[in-house]
Amino acid sequence: MDAQTRHAMLPEPNHDEEARQMFVKSFRGHLAANVAPGTRRVYNKVVAPEFQRAKGRPPADKYEVRAEMERQPYYQFWSAMQRASQELMWDSVIDTVERTLPELIETAAKLDKGNPRGSLRLDPSLEIPKYHTAVDIHLQPGAYHSEFTDGDLAAGAIYDRGVYIYLGGATGPENDLLGRILVNFFQEEFSDRPTARILDMGCAIGNSTIPWAKAFPDAEIHGIDVGAPVLRYAHARAEANEAGIHFSQQNAEHTDFPDESFDLIVSHIMLHETSHSAMPRIFAECKRLLRPGGLMLHLEIPRGNDPYSSFMMDWEAYNNNEPFSRQFRESDVIGLVEKAGLAKARFELAPVNFDKTQRNYGGAFAGFPVVVGEKA
Ligand SMILES: C[S@@+](CC[C@H](N)C(=O)[O-])C[C@H]1O[C@@H](n2cnc3c(N)ncnc32)[C@H](O)[C@@H]1O
Repeated sequence: MDAQTRHAMLPEPNHDEEARQMFVKSFRGHLAANVAPGTRRVYNKVVAPEFQRAKGRPPADKYEVRAEMERQPYYQFWSAMQRASQELMWDSVIDTVERTLPELIETAAKLDKGNPRGSLRLDPSLEIPKYHTAVDIHLQPGAYHSEFTDGDLAAGAIYDRGVYIYLGGATGPENDLLGRILVNFFQEEFSDRPTARILDMGCAIGNSTIPWAKAFPDAEIHGIDVGAPVLRYAHARAEANEAGIHFSQQNAEHTDFPDESFDLIVSHIMLHETSHSAMPRIFAECKRLLRPGGLMLHLEIPRGNDPYSSFMMDWEAYNNNEPFSRQFRESDVIGLVEKAGLAKARFELAPVNFDKTQRNYGGAFAGFPVVVGEKA
């Protein structure tokens, strides 16, 4: 199965399923490399000059760019293909997960027996936040939390294979690129900080949590998420990969951990999938959970620094059921961190250090913004 590293929990496609999955991966790669750049050319050669002629100035913001670009047939074509590729991606992965689900559930049960390195604590009474139930986030049917059978972990299995295809393998064979980037960033910038207890918020399948467990084998590592199926999968996946992580089903806005439980709180692309009212509560919870001198690092999606790139980055908000990503990009995130009472609030850029991560996935990413805050 292409370059994604197999492990006991990864759904194994049959011949035809794999052919479809590889088609979607190539299709998305083709759209990104050969079709999407044409939208920039349409903007530079047609939209921007016409706007300038009509108004005597360039477009002021992403909304003005959007109003013009949406009328362009080339943009409409790319956008329709991009949306179709996302739907095909889930369709192609869901076939495999549906067919192999009973075996996956059985394997997960076996991995939990004996002497697991980590643990799993679910809370069936947890209320799933509205920002998860309102839409199927990034078009994943049922998103992270929906369950259809006992011990359901389908959402996790779908995410593991889906995310890999979504980014054309750029997340790396273990789907752990974001975790490795943040670990590297922490080791470069904050190597003197304690790491006895680490919390990963919005951990989903634990793909970004495992690099923390590997980098700090003596630490007690926790991962929380609101979705039970992703956490069942995360626990089994971590055990299959010999990582000791304690997973629990909790809302990052209000957890049941005692005050000052953690030295370090991290998250990887979680904040932009929460709401504007949730974010201040998550930062307040980080402050409560951190020990004095503790640090929080939330790795996030790029924000865009000119009207055209900001417009393109919002594509997912309008077309891929990521409504909160636009809100996130427009929020005064650092102001919210300060309001929560955390010190030295700032954005930093965590570079993709190819020497350290030892893999270069075609230079797809230069770096990711990280929301930093410290407990005085
Ligand atoms: C895009 S996924 C990222 C998963 C993983 N961290 C990664 O690096 O691939 C965002 C995750 O955040 C979780 N999440 C969103 N809001 C949350 C909240 N309030 N509390 C806990 N988890 C949350 C979602 O359920 C989802 O699994």
